[in-house]
Amino acid sequence: MSVHIAAQKGQIAKTVLQPGDPLRAKYIAENFLEDIKLVSKTRNVFYYTGLYKGKEVTVGASGMGAPSIGIYSYELYTEYDVDTIIRIGTCGGYTSELNVYDLLNVENAASESTYAKYSWEIEEDLLPHQGKAFSVINDTARNLSKELKTTNIHTSDIFYRKNPGIPEIAKKYNCSAVEMEAFALFANAQYLGKNAATLLTVSDIIPTGEYISADQREQALTPMIELALEAAINL
Ligand code: HPA
Repeated sequence: MSVHIAAQKGQIAKTVLQPGDPLRAKYIAENFLEDIKLVSKTRNVFYYTGLYKGKEVTVGASGMGAPSIGIYSYELYTEYDVDTIIRIGTCGGYTSELNVYDLLNVENAASESTYAKYSWEIEEDLLPHQGKAFSVINDTARNLSKELKTTNIHTSDIFYRKNPGIPEIAKKYNCSAVEMEAFALFANAQYLGKNAATLLTVSDIIPTGEYISADQREQALTPMIELALEAAINL
C-alpha cells in the first residue's frame, strides 16, 4: 500500500498504462485485458492488473494535471517497482495542420509548471520522454502500419484562460498540441531513472473549435489503446 494506491506490493505490473480518467482505466481493463483484478480503488481512482496477449499490464488513472500525475507516477515507480509508465490521453491541437483523431507520440514536453524545479531541482522547461518506451512505440506503430506523429507538446496547468492565443512557451518550442500531465511524468521518470512515454489522441483543434464529442471518445481512443498495449508487449 502507498499513500494513494491500495494495491499490495506485487499486484502492479512492471508496465502501467495511465489514462487520466478512472472510468477509462476500467473500460480498458474490461475490454482489452483478460484475468483482470481491481487492485486499488482509493478515491475511486481505479487500478486494474490483467493480461494482454499473455503479458501482465496494469492500467490505472493519473487524474488531471501535473500535481495529480506527479503523485500517482511517483508512488508507482518508487513503491511498486514499476519500470515503465505510458500515459494515454487526449490533447488540444494548436494548429489546424493536426486533425481530430491524430495520434501523437510526445518527444518533449514544454511547461511553465514549477513541478520539476521544486520537486527535483530540474531547472529545464523542456523535458524529453524517458528511456526506450518512445522508440518502442514508434517501432510498434510502424510494424502495425498505424499512423503516428512524433512531436513536442505543451503541458499546461491551465485549461481555461483569458487570452485564447498560443502561449509563448508553446511557440518557443514548436509545440503542436496541449495537454496537462506529460511534463510531470517525464520529470519523475528522469529523476528516478525510469521509462516514461506519452501517447495522445487529438480530441479538439483549438483554432477551429472542431472536437470529438464525449460519446464518440470511447471509440476514438481504441487505436491509441491498442498501440500502447502492443508496445507494452515489446518493452
Ligand atoms: N487543453 C488542455 N488539455 C487538453 C485539451 C486542451 O485544449 N484538450 C484535451 N486535453
